[in-house]
Amino acid sequence: MSNNAYSQADQAAVYRAIFERRDMRHFVPGPLPEGCLERLLQAAIAAPSVGFMQPWRFIQITESDTRLQLQALVEEERIATADALNTRRDEFMTLKVEGIKDCAEVLVVCLSNKRENYIFGRRTLPQMDLASASCAIQNMWLAARCEGIGLGWVSIFCPEKIAQLLQLPQGAEAIAILCIGQVDQFYDKPLLEAQGWDKKRPIDQLLMQNTWQDSIK
Ligand SMILES: Cc1cc2nc3c(=O)[nH]c(=O)nc-3n(C[C@H](O)[C@H](O)[C@H](O)COP(=O)(O)O)c2cc1C
Repeated sequence: MSNNAYSQADQAAVYRAIFERRDMRHFVPGPLPEGCLERLLQAAIAAPSVGFMQPWRFIQITESDTRLQLQALVEEERIATADALNTRRDEFMTLKVEGIKDCAEVLVVCLSNKRENYIFGRRTLPQMDLASASCAIQNMWLAARCEGIGLGWVSIFCPEKIAQLLQLPQGAEAIAILCIGQVDQFYDKPLLEAQGWDKKRPIDQLLMQNTWQDSIK
């Protein structure tokens, strides 16, 4: 084992958080533990980012009216998404896709404005800003799981409408409504798998050697 490796127990804890992390949409009442939100945010900003651009910005929603308006925007887009799904419309409508009204904290994660000033690592792949902010959210997700706190990423919304509601500057973009709160228990598998929406793909259907293989779908 490398000298730089964590102890076996610490390794097991890291892998446990990775495999037991779930996207949570069912919350129970109760505040977050003391200091938890601050720790999750510190975990978020410890994430890697392209050219160290740190494109993430966080808006904590403390007004219940704003929370309700966010939920209404998600509901509007949920119906539009269902209509776009055609044959799977009714099935989609049975899925629970957010827990905005029930969670202890709602955070909207945005990409910062003036991102065009950051070229390092983004000249050909400008979407690396989104990739970086996603790393921050994943850090929060894992940190929340190890604290026993549920986190759900909601992306079913029209970003322009969120921008208007939250008065984002030109160029900034909301990428996530995070629902964070107490949960009774974590789902033992992804909710979309449990509800038969899709299946988890095994690694042998995802890994190729040297070139793209058409046998991989
Ligand atoms: C970028 C991103 C956006 C997502 N948006 C939503 C969403 O709007 N509503 C929802 O219910 N789940 C959303 N999810 C959660 C996924 O449905 C979930 O990660 C997936 O079903 C696998 O489940 P697991 O996270 O519990 O492993 C999102 C996840 C990601 C990574």
